[in-house]
Parts: sequence; structure tokens; C-alpha cells
Amino acid sequence: MKLAVLVSGRGSNLQALIDACAAEEFPAEIVLVLSNKAEAYGLERAKQAGIPTAVLSHKDFDDRESFDEAMSQKITEADAELVCLAGFMRLLSDGFVRKWRDKLINIHPSLLPSYKGLHVHERAIEDGARFSGCTVHFVRPAMDEGPIIIQAVVPVHPEDDADALAGRILEQEHVVYPQAVRYIAEGRVRVSAERVVITDAPIPHGAMVNPVG
Ligand code: GAR
Repeated sequence: MKLAVLVSGRGSNLQALIDACAAEEFPAEIVLVLSNKAEAYGLERAKQAGIPTAVLSHKDFDDRESFDEAMSQKITEADAELVCLAGFMRLLSDGFVRKWRDKLINIHPSLLPSYKGLHVHERAIEDGARFSGCTVHFVRPAMDEGPIIIQAVVPVHPEDDADALAGRILEQEHVVYPQAVRYIAEGRVRVSAERVVITDAPIPHGAMVNPVG
């Protein structure tokens, strides 16, 4: 399966996808890395891996729709079949989301539907949440909404600051994003009544308790 990965910055999730795709048996390859920021380090990562890149600055477009249309064109030209948002920090127009419906996925550093938007770790700590984590989901027009493909949970420790929690979650992001792509590329993921069904995924048993009694 051919992937387009959209980034705005550091690109560590992009790197996790690059590394996963490097394995012979991985059923996907990245055909385009697209950024709205010329200085995004993700572009450098793509170049080092020999992956074609494109930069489209939203500032060069009159409105969100025309910017998104230009992105769609680049993605289509690259022949991509799945679009992966990886720290792409722009809201997408309804038209773009409709066009790529069920072919557009995002990773978000919280257990959705909790903590959509920004400053998620500060908010989880402030609330005294015992667990946080990350979510890979299909994208719908509303921000950080859509059918959940996979989540990973991490504990929130009493001494955590936002950076410590972000780091613990990021490690899991790098595991679950390639895993979600693999499931999709293997043709095992479908959306039914706005819920994701994955064929032959192992079902974990039991509960997680924090702190352990
Ligand atoms: C990641 O933590 C990702 O989950 C988050 O931005 C970071 C990008 O890091 N995305 C969002 O908050 C989207 N709502 P990266 O550039 O190193 O992959």
C-alpha cells in the first residue's frame, strides 16, 4: 500500500513509519512526505530515506479549501492510497476529509475522545488522570474525531510533568502507528457503523489499575 505522510515538524512518527517500511515484509511504502512548513525536520528524515518530498505553504493560498485541494493533487499525483497525518498541525477542510474518507488516518497523543486539541498532557496531569496514551483513528471533519483503530495506554506518574508524559506516550505512538498502517495495508480494517472492525486482531484480557493495589 502506498502512503503519503503529512508532517509539520519533528517527524518522529514519520521516522517510525520509515523504519517499519524498511522491513522487507512490511506491506506498505511511503511515496510522498508532504509538509506545510519548509523547515520541518520531517522533510530531512524523508530525504535521508530517499523518499520524495513536497512543501506547500498554506500562506500561499487564499483559503483552506484551495490549500487542501493543492495537497490532494500532490497526494493523487504520487499515487498514494492512504494518507497518514503525523504531527500535521493544520485543520483540514470538510472537502479534503470527505475526499479521503476512510483513507485518512491521524495519531493523537491522548486516549480519545478525551483530551482533543492542544496541551493534552498538561490537561491530563491537571485533572489527576491516572492513565493517558495515544490513539490512531480515521479522520472525520471534527478535530480529533473519528473511528478508533488502535490505542495504547500509559500510566501517569505523580511526579510527571508534560514533557515526561509526552515522552512516555511518544514511545507508544511509534509502536501503534506502524501497527495501524500494517493492519490497514493487510486489508484487515473496515469501518462499520462508524466503528472499526479489525479481522484477526488478538484480544487482550483484564484491566489495568494505577497505582497497582
Ligand atoms: C505527536 O505526539 C502527535 O501525536 C501529535 O504531534 C506530535 C508530533 O510529533 N499530534 C497531534 O497532537 C495531532 N492532534 P512528531 O512530529 O515527532 O511525530
